[in-house]
Amino acid sequence: MLYEDQAARFDERAGVPPAAADAAARALYALAGLREGDALLEVGAGTGSLSLPLLRLPLRYVGFDRSPAMLDEFRRRVADSGSTAELHVADGDERWPVDDGSVAAVFGARALHHLSADHVVAETMRVLRAPGGVLALGRVRRPPDSVKSTLRRRMRRTLEEQGFHGRNHEAGAEAVFTALEQRGGVRIPPVTAARWTHTHRPADSLASWAGKTGLAGMEVPADVKARVLAEVRAWALAHYGDLDAPLPQDEAFEIAAIRVPVA
Ligand SMILES: C[S@@+](CC[C@H](N)C(=O)[O-])C[C@H]1O[C@@H](n2cnc3c(N)ncnc32)[C@H](O)[C@@H]1O
Repeated sequence: MLYEDQAARFDERAGVPPAAADAAARALYALAGLREGDALLEVGAGTGSLSLPLLRLPLRYVGFDRSPAMLDEFRRRVADSGSTAELHVADGDERWPVDDGSVAAVFGARALHHLSADHVVAETMRVLRAPGGVLALGRVRRPPDSVKSTLRRRMRRTLEEQGFHGRNHEAGAEAVFTALEQRGGVRIPPVTAARWTHTHRPADSLASWAGKTGLAGMEVPADVKARVLAEVRAWALAHYGDLDAPLPQDEAFEIAAIRVPVA
């Protein structure tokens, strides 16, 4: 299963800095208009490095993820921090683990594009409380010409040449938001909750893809993956000269949301 083998190294590969996670939690609380005691459901919560600050807010937090290993990491963090969280192993393409009309907001970061958009819409409408709540989607944005974005585009293009079209966060989010708008939803202007800069080597992207199952959010045969990574490596070597050169990488955490009227 995708992500099951990534739990131990996920945060090293893709984690957001703790200060950015704090800022993201505060931004989500404000943007969704949450109040003390409200329930928040997180879909695809992962290792919790992003979600831990949500547990410090005066909310009932419920998180779920399909990967037991990712959630084990989250549980370890919850125990270490002395907080509490209701966590469930569950598949987001099936019934979400909360009652009808029981949550004020649904949150997903870097996860909902793994699910069927129609199912996300149906479950969001089912679980949000009347007279309505908020669906909020978080993502990390990067300048298009930065090293991570450039190599990711190259990897996806090479993968497409092999006949595999990866999952795309933007297209997935857009499909969900458009369907919710058709049901009377009103978009909330996106907010950038945090910005940070670090260094990234072209070799880091290649190692990160090599070290996990699949590519671009989907299962890919091992020979195809090896071919794609070899081609991207050759391209990166020609483009950057040195795969180990530390290059500046700007990142930002953005939350886009929609207020959904529920009768
Ligand atoms: C890129 S990680 C993001 C984790 C976390 N939200 C974050 O931003 O740090 C994507 C997560 O979605 C989970 N996921 C993928 N497909 C899922 C599904 N069908 N149901 C529930 N979770 C799923 C994965 O197991 C993984 O933990």
